[in-house]
Amino acid sequence: MRLSREPLIKAAEITRRTGVLGRQIARAAKGEPLILVAVLKGALPFAADLLRRIPGEVALDFIRVHSYAGTQSSGRLEVSVRPEISLTGRNVLLVEDILDTGRTASHIMAAVLAMEPASLRLCALLDKPVRRVMPVEADFVGFTIEDHFVVGYGLDYNESYRNLPSIYRLEEE
Ligand code: IMP
Ligand code: MG
Repeated sequence: MRLSREPLIKAAEITRRTGVLGRQIARAAKGEPLILVAVLKGALPFAADLLRRIPGEVALDFIRVHSYAGTQSSGRLEVSVRPEISLTGRNVLLVEDILDTGRTASHIMAAVLAMEPASLRLCALLDKPVRRVMPVEADFVGFTIEDHFVVGYGLDYNESYRNLPSIYRLEEE
């Protein structure tokens, strides 16, 4: 496997889009405080940038799911890191790196809804709608992409490439 020569999405495009999302998110919050809950590890760079583009009162926390047995998309999912701040009665913005089959996001959303937040919205940097298995839609999407495996800006292949500032396709040699 190797990286595409050209980025699929350049760092500058991500920055521009993140500013737009931040304003949309603030508008939807209508002046109410938010808790941004970043899904580890892939959403970390995006969440860190997005956080600084949302005007208003925004707290930060994290959630992580671990998948047991099998591949990422077929294994049993369990929440392995829970948010430290109580989400009960709060306006929660869940921040994901990518919506693929939607299994991870639906599992996390169910877990967060069980904590009885006042509201729950989902923001995904990337969306691959053709791959969807679970009926989940993000309220805010950075970029809708085709069925490519992508890396960079938090997204990994076997834990590599998360550090790339832009997003690249991973191609067969
Ligand atoms: P889902 O549960 O199938 O929606 O997949 C969600 C998780 O799979 C994401 O949070 C990523 O960690 C990983 N994933 C899905 N597609 C990609 C990709 O194209 N590149 C890197 N990771 C991906
Ligand atoms: Mg991953």
